[in-house]
Amino acid sequence: MLSGLKPTGHATLGNLLGALRFWAEDQHDADALFPIVDLHALTVDVDPDALRSLTLELTMVLMAVGLDPDVCTLFVQSHVPQHPRLTWLLECTASFGELRRMTQFKDKSAKGGEGEARAGLLTYPVLMAADILLYDVDRVPVGDDQRQHLELTRDLAMRFNHRYGDTFVVPEASIPKVGARIMDLQDPTGKMGKSHDSPQGTVYVLDDPKDIERKIKRAVTDTGGDVRYDVQAKPGVSNLLTILGAVTGTPVEDLAASYTQYGPLKADTAEAVVAYLRPVQDRYAALAADPAYVHTVLDKGAAKAEGMAADTYARAAAAMGLLPR
Ligand code: AMP
Ligand code: TRP
Repeated sequence: MLSGLKPTGHATLGNLLGALRFWAEDQHDADALFPIVDLHALTVDVDPDALRSLTLELTMVLMAVGLDPDVCTLFVQSHVPQHPRLTWLLECTASFGELRRMTQFKDKSAKGGEGEARAGLLTYPVLMAADILLYDVDRVPVGDDQRQHLELTRDLAMRFNHRYGDTFVVPEASIPKVGARIMDLQDPTGKMGKSHDSPQGTVYVLDDPKDIERKIKRAVTDTGGDVRYDVQAKPGVSNLLTILGAVTGTPVEDLAASYTQYGPLKADTAEAVVAYLRPVQDRYAALAADPAYVHTVLDKGAAKAEGMAADTYARAAAAMGLLPR
């Protein structure tokens, strides 16, 4: 299996509860690869210094939440040259029309207009297809917003195989484990996201405990003082119950039954989140104190990934008729 994370912001509690904690389990069930997809980050405005430091930070967060570089393959996408090389071959397999019709391209280019949009925004899903197809991956756990990109990956793999002979493993349409969907604390109808500008509504994995407590205690709640799990009628309270349920491993209905007021629910949620993140933050601090070790991990990860990617790339290039060196 393989899944990627873009270094476009600090990792959030939403990332952790909705994805990363499952990755830490998945790594034991399959050969698992986790690229930090820095080339994808270039499709949006990101400051070069910030990109560099976020890439390292995310690497250390992934290790701190339990991705073990001796078990899985943890690497930076741009360290493995076969990603952009295979992207070109797949760009010559994809059509302009199908890329232009991608929902994410339409959304992201809507503001400034298609003419202003970066070409990388158009070809973004082809790079993602290369990430996946390079490693003969069966399973790609992603959020719902990535489903269309995964469909394109399957289409490209099948079209390529049909045109040039069996080359790629067609990945299974992902059935993501049902993860908690964590909403913004200030706007519980929108998801808590690392690239949104809502610092008060977002708990970051590396937030100071005092900030976590403040953000959760100031979370927007709903009219009517009763505590119930009802996402439509009570999005704020339901979000707190989802968070508390995820970090304590308790069903939300059981939790709802044990509270009658918002105050104690917020206090307990804050305390539980701080306790849940503490060991992660401690491990992060230990890693941050040893940057040489982290670089060694990334070196090894890139070498391991390249070993696999080089074979697949050579297979694809030869199938298309590129003369081997
Ligand atoms: P993103 O931060 O949007 O690049 O997403 C990275 C991964 O974290 C994806 O698998 C998402 O589905 C997951 N994720 C991001 N935000 C949330 C959230 N608020 N709740 C649950 N999962 C999330
Ligand atoms: N596009 C994905 C996102 O925005 C990130 C990503 C890039 C990815 N390459 C991938 C996810 C390969 C899964 C597999 O979240």
